[in-house]
Amino acid sequence: MCPITNTNFSYSKTLMEFPVDFIRFLTSATRVVVLTGAGVSQESGLRTFRDAQDALWAQYKPEDLASPEAFARDPKLVWDWYAWRREAIKGVRPNPGHYALVEMENRIPAFTLITQNVDGLHRFAGSRNVLELHGNIQRVRCAECGTFTETWGDDTESVPLCVVCGGMLRPDVIWFGEALPRAELEAAVKASRSCHVYFSIGTSGVVQPAASLAYAARNNGSVVVEINAEPTPLTSKVDFAFHGKSGEILPDLAKAVWGV
Ligand code: OAD
Repeated sequence: MCPITNTNFSYSKTLMEFPVDFIRFLTSATRVVVLTGAGVSQESGLRTFRDAQDALWAQYKPEDLASPEAFARDPKLVWDWYAWRREAIKGVRPNPGHYALVEMENRIPAFTLITQNVDGLHRFAGSRNVLELHGNIQRVRCAECGTFTETWGDDTESVPLCVVCGGMLRPDVIWFGEALPRAELEAAVKASRSCHVYFSIGTSGVVQPAASLAYAARNNGSVVVEINAEPTPLTSKVDFAFHGKSGEILPDLAKAVWGV
């Protein structure tokens, strides 16, 4: 199905039109998968993880904050970091890229949105078939018994405790070294293996197993597309790569394909 390999485009509103082949594939595609990463939320004002100047990980080592070992070593530090991120998300709104993906879902019969983001902005925008591979920062559960809780205090001297068993509460996100939710991962793999077009958007593509989904799609003959501010390790393997902001490219794409 792939006509052209490794065609890269620097996106610019004035200089570029989407390639005719690409528009044709998208227009006729009935099964589409989109994988998103932190870059999709960047234009909403949230920081990404690995971009040099403005990245969360530039200040903190991931293993110091986002792992079971880190939580065992210093639970309050980890709790406070997530509380700070949760606070940063409050008041943040989806951007035009999120809404363009809703428009896509409205027009494509089988549309699966797989996200590594824990910010919940896709659902906030109106996306329905969303697989949250890395959990959701707004949910909190007991680290011991797994009970979810709706209320807790962030300004306590120590990590809030579970009312059921007294264990420490933690965010319902996936930490380094933890398994992804099985049902979500299986659904993501299945959708990626059977889609006509696969998009990798705003992700550096270095965290597994999410990064491997593009290869699952490619090996099964789908057209693979990347939208990213910069080239990534995936760029040389895709059929079409558009470099620029997803909050600009996606709305223009929706307009070019469906006139919305
Ligand atoms: P990264 O921070 O690794 O990558 C963000 C990507 O978005 C980079 O490739 C940027 O070039 C790109 N980008 C930035 N702004 C953009 C924009 N406006 N439009 C398009 N692209 C833009 O974030 P992820 O790939 O999401 O996992 O990171 C994957 C996982 O690593 C996260 O889910 C998190 C982290 O460890 C866990 O916490 C388990």
